[in-house]
Amino acid sequence: MARIAVIAGDGVGPEVIPQGVRALEVLSARRGLGLVLEPWPYGADHFLATGETLPEARFEALLRGEYAAVLLGAVGDPRLPDHRHARDILLGLRTRLDLYVNLRPVRLLDDRLTPLKGKTRREVDLVVFRENTEGLYTGAGGRVRPGTPEEVALEQDVNTARGVTRILRAALDFAHAHGKRRVCMSDKSNAMTHAGALWQRLWRELGEGYPELERRHLYVDALCLELVRAPEQFDVVVTSNLFGDVASDVGAAIAGGMGVAASANLNPESGLGLFEPVHGSAPGLAGKDLANPCATFLTCALLLEHLGHPAEARLLEAAVERAAREGRLTPDCGGALGTRAVADFVVEELARTA
Ligand code: IPM
Ligand code: MN
Repeated sequence: MARIAVIAGDGVGPEVIPQGVRALEVLSARRGLGLVLEPWPYGADHFLATGETLPEARFEALLRGEYAAVLLGAVGDPRLPDHRHARDILLGLRTRLDLYVNLRPVRLLDDRLTPLKGKTRREVDLVVFRENTEGLYTGAGGRVRPGTPEEVALEQDVNTARGVTRILRAALDFAHAHGKRRVCMSDKSNAMTHAGALWQRLWRELGEGYPELERRHLYVDALCLELVRAPEQFDVVVTSNLFGDVASDVGAAIAGGMGVAASANLNPESGLGLFEPVHGSAPGLAGKDLANPCATFLTCALLLEHLGHPAEARLLEAAVERAAREGRLTPDCGGALGTRAVADFVVEELARTA
């Protein structure tokens, strides 16, 4: 049995997550996976009603290993402009569970989905490894003379040898294990010299242990340019938290948009994992049956992979690829179907193939 905590969250989260849950339940029933999906109520409504974001007891249950994974829709709500609950839930899970790998595949479901002229599934196929626990996301810093014309806001970029080593190693190990030849490390060491020197040193030192891999470095601005110009140059990209946030959105754009971008937040040592579509809560789309469920399906495929069910992950991906091939998609991907109709197609396809 594998228990999975499911936080649908805000906005379009409660529209797409139940569809992912349906797919997981079909696969679990047909293939005897023993998945137990447990809904958790957290998000903006819950916070506004109770003042609670993600209770301590829940974090503790996750840290005790009582759940095999967390599936999260999206958090963010216009009624809560300071994003307090979103920070507690999303960034809280990432940091408290020490999920230092944010793995974001950039893959095309169908050639027609990329906005890049002449590129196909062969050319758009890479994985971004984003450091997920430090960098510019720790909240270290502060404001001096806030609210005055002399205000100074400081945001510290935290890069530890331990943190940089483990994300570099995760990317290199992944490339090695999956037969991906080329690994590109990206930083901004021409301008941010302190953090840059650490990343450069560890990249050099660790890289020597992987002579079979082709190692390359690009400044992050050049990386973003090259991702758009010639994505076929990349198999694996590894970078810091903020640069990975930006580069993975560029990746999402070249692979068909936020509606199809999946992610896994992992700690390879503890085995804990948080799985979320890369898109946000998109409050403007909520309640209109317009949200693309594909990102959630592909995220569920990453979750299945994580649970040790690669064959079922492939079945789910194949079902989504078929939907894409046949143009049974939401408007963001050029289709004319709603969230539920796309999901019905994918789930029926699974029921047929699983
Ligand atoms: C993402 C999001 C988050 C991030 C936000 C919501 C804090 O953009 O998962 O990419 O920056 O990590
Ligand atoms: Mn982002």
